[in-house]
Amino acid sequence: MPPATHPPEATAPHHEKPDKPELLLPAPPEQKLLRPLDVVTFKKVSKSFGTGSEAKLALQDISFTIEDLPNAGELIAIVGPSGCGKSTVLRILAGLKPHFPPTSGEVLVLGKPVTEPGPDRGLVDQKYSLLPHLNVIENVAFGLKLRGTARAERLDRASEWVKKVGLVGSEKKFPSELSGGMQQRVAIAATLILQPRILLMDEPFGALDPGIRLRMQELLIQLWNEQQSTVFLVTHSVEEAVYLGDRVFLMAPNPGRLVEILKVPRPNEPPEESRRKPWFINFCQALLRRLEEESPAQHGVKV
Ligand SMILES: Nc1ncnc2c1ncn2[C@@H]1O[C@H](COP(=O)(O)OP(=O)(O)OP(=O)(O)O)[C@@H](O)[C@H]1O
Ligand SMILES: [Mg+2]
Repeated sequence: MPPATHPPEATAPHHEKPDKPELLLPAPPEQKLLRPLDVVTFKKVSKSFGTGSEAKLALQDISFTIEDLPNAGELIAIVGPSGCGKSTVLRILAGLKPHFPPTSGEVLVLGKPVTEPGPDRGLVDQKYSLLPHLNVIENVAFGLKLRGTARAERLDRASEWVKKVGLVGSEKKFPSELSGGMQQRVAIAATLILQPRILLMDEPFGALDPGIRLRMQELLIQLWNEQQSTVFLVTHSVEEAVYLGDRVFLMAPNPGRLVEILKVPRPNEPPEESRRKPWFINFCQALLRRLEEESPAQHGVKV
């Protein structure tokens, strides 16, 4: 069917209209704009570290598209053996050196090439880096300060976030006085408070004990429902990937490649119930098997 906005003359073949040739042209360019811009596009992205005989191909030809779905952000879980390039993918998307720029290929965010870090992307890094001379509340509020938010408002909002990540009572502590898991929660709060359109989380729950990990997963689901951001979550936990992910990207090493994209079924049930369902357990087992097939030790056994 022709597009509804197309003028009827343009589809009437029997009229000669030499005085109005523009009506015979293909669909006007503004029709292309009706489709929302894709959130993220990777086109054949490769990354080498080092040169000559020292060169190491960390990523090879990574291509994928994250479409802008109406009223829903997508959560992409990235899994793969150590060294397969998961962090490199996130840091390229974040525009952070030395991973960015890629050696070849194209990275687009909302239709524009990535050239540097930006407020549309927030990264919770694998090696979370807090500012050592700032206390918890100041670390959480720091990004808002850079954005020029007034002091009273930023401290108010930072207090809310400290509460959300369960650190009430530690507001005045400095990073050196916190456990690894507490520091990680400060880093998570410091990124989430900025409400980035694209949230990049590199093993964000790795250092957390199981109880807090569960609470943080639930917090992420709640936030993601509220803010509809697109989330990339790197995890070594297959269960976490299936629990949180809409899609799971499976990567393999040597060189780092995206070998499979698995769509996770989302039955209409509370997420916490899913974990006990047969579909969930079967999906996790199948993913674990694929992960084992792609791990270097397995390749060693096969040879
Ligand atoms: N700054 C760097 N300089 C040189 N090589 C690097 C650098 N960063 C990563 N690499 C290499 O690129 C490859 C991919 O690394 P990356 O950190 O992305 O893997 P990963 O999948 O995140 O691993 P992990 O699960 O252990 O965090 C590895 O071989 C690594 O040694
Ligand atoms: Mg990593």
